[in-house]
Amino acid sequence: MTDLDTLRSTYLARVADASDANALEEVRLAALGKKGEISLKMRELGQMSPEERQTTGAALNRLRDEIDAALRGKKVALEDAALDARLREEWLDVTLPGRPRPAGTIHPVSQVTEEVTAIFADMGFSVAEGPQVESDWFNFDALNIPPEHPARQEHDTFFMARAAGDPRPPHVLRTHTSPVQIRAMQDQGAPIRVIAPGRVYRMDMDQTHTPMFHQVEGLTIGQGISMANLKWTLEEFCRAFFEVDEVELRFRASHFPFTEPSAEVDIRCSWEGGTLKIGQGDSWLEILGSGMVHPKVLEAAGVDPNVWQGFAFGMGIDRIAMLKYGIPDLRAFFESDLRWLRHYGFAAGDVPSVAGGLSR
Ligand code: DAH
Repeated sequence: MTDLDTLRSTYLARVADASDANALEEVRLAALGKKGEISLKMRELGQMSPEERQTTGAALNRLRDEIDAALRGKKVALEDAALDARLREEWLDVTLPGRPRPAGTIHPVSQVTEEVTAIFADMGFSVAEGPQVESDWFNFDALNIPPEHPARQEHDTFFMARAAGDPRPPHVLRTHTSPVQIRAMQDQGAPIRVIAPGRVYRMDMDQTHTPMFHQVEGLTIGQGISMANLKWTLEEFCRAFFEVDEVELRFRASHFPFTEPSAEVDIRCSWEGGTLKIGQGDSWLEILGSGMVHPKVLEAAGVDPNVWQGFAFGMGIDRIAMLKYGIPDLRAFFESDLRWLRHYGFAAGDVPSVAGGLSR
């Protein structure tokens, strides 16, 4: 029996020493595997006398069960230890603040376009669109700017290249949003109330000019429409846009081929201490061109000028963005400098404000 006692202490010690699942499995195979020491001993039972077999067999069974139980116990202990180690290692502080994700910003032009759209939407204007590559008929002729008209030169137009014999009409990059007036009237007829924000192009580049910039066109056609309606609409817009209760607009007689009469509109402001204040002071800032839509423009768009009349205006979006948000250089708008975009950009959640409200 000393034999079995040795086996017993050897294997129980090896089980206790096993440091991981693989080592433990080795011990199991060495003891209880097909060719394990205890299994071999059991095979020897066959050659024993019945009496011997009975005692040795019972002792071997106990030994096998004991080692088996030790193996199982150790297996559970190893698994528990492994789990403890993992929990220690993978410990996570869910109360730590999150890592900030890089977030883009809304470009001032987009923000101001949304603001302008929201304010005019409140006054019943919907948004109309037209192509940026426009035929010269829509960009000029239909707006009462015939080929020999000096305004064509003043527009510093980009012309689309044309192959000799190209049967299509000449096209330009639209120099203003005014052609959308024609398209909107052709599509919807009268009465109509639309604004048309979008990109326009002119060959020009300095601190206040870029070859591409943004305008918003406004058009109202109805019956009994006069300059008074134009004045009220623009005043309401400026109050809401610049978020001041009192705005004063100055209508200066001017000339545009597509309006008669025409007026350029200035807004009262001050530059005290280098910062611009809208609504007070002794300075005037030009913000837009406007007028009563010329009968020839109505005709070109298929609207009867004997029945309908209305007003139109065109305003620089980039310009009013610079005024409202104190942005000094127009060129920076389109340089995509991340520092500039972060500084002047808006968070996605900034709702276009109509804070001034419309006094109706
Ligand atoms: N289209 C003109 C420009 O680009 C702006 C303008 C002036 C638009 C008078 C109008 C208007 O609708 O009535 O300079």
